[in-house]
Amino acid sequence: MPEPQTLAGRPPSALARLMAGLADRPQVAPGPTDTTLTPDDPGHPEYHRQARARVALARWETAAPRRYRTATCTHPDITTWADRAAPDPDTAGILVLTGPIGTGKTHQAYGALRRIAEAGPRRFEMIATTAPDMYGLLRPGGSERGSEYELRRLARIPLLLLDDLGTEKLSEWTEEATYRLINERYNQCRPVIITTNLLVTELAAQLGDRLASRLAQAATIVTLAGPDLRRGQP
Ligand SMILES: Nc1ncnc2c1ncn2[C@@H]1O[C@H](COP(=O)(O)OP(=O)(O)OP(=O)(O)O)[C@@H](O)[C@H]1O
Ligand SMILES: [Mg+2]
Repeated sequence: MPEPQTLAGRPPSALARLMAGLADRPQVAPGPTDTTLTPDDPGHPEYHRQARARVALARWETAAPRRYRTATCTHPDITTWADRAAPDPDTAGILVLTGPIGTGKTHQAYGALRRIAEAGPRRFEMIATTAPDMYGLLRPGGSERGSEYELRRLARIPLLLLDDLGTEKLSEWTEEATYRLINERYNQCRPVIITTNLLVTELAAQLGDRLASRLAQAATIVTLAGPDLRRGQP
């Protein structure tokens, strides 16, 4: 029977020689790596703001009629309102744009909404409607889903533009619908943009004392003046 073999006294294997060589090498610690994020990197706040702004602008473009697709707001009080509404809609309140026909109220209103979208807010959902269209939707038979559903949708949407309020005489029913809508948004601190050809005093009288009181407390009122911009335009 052959003698059992032992490892003692045998030359080191190739693996053992390699390991011994590695042990002799100087220890090199990894150097510092630059982990600073740039605005192009996911994880950087600016990267995510821009991504939110792209989504918001796409929604804005869907909601804006063709004529107002290039609208920008230029009036300083309106840009200030939009800059407040973008990061903190709860504090923006009601924006009332008043002035004669063709002075750019609707243009500025869509411009304000675009400015909010460009800021990349956490949530951007908007409905833009004229007051006559809204009353058409809310009246019995105006919507398949029913007027209560439509009123709730208008009351809950984060951003609402109510264009041309006061163009028609309010019946008891339209006054009540307008009150319920604006009162609910006022109670929930949701912003509204209203445009009107009426003077603010006339609008307040038309909407009734209850809404006039809420407007007096929560509205930023901007009066646009000047010539009818439609005259001389294609
Ligand atoms: N700053 C602007 N730059 C370019 N075009 C503008 C500007 N403001 C308004 N317009 C254009 O002038 C016209 C009238 O503007 P807009 O419709 O906003 O007026 P309005 O005050 O809402 O009028 P109305 O009281 O009749 O509703 C539109 O064709 C609009 O595109
Ligand atoms: Mg208008």
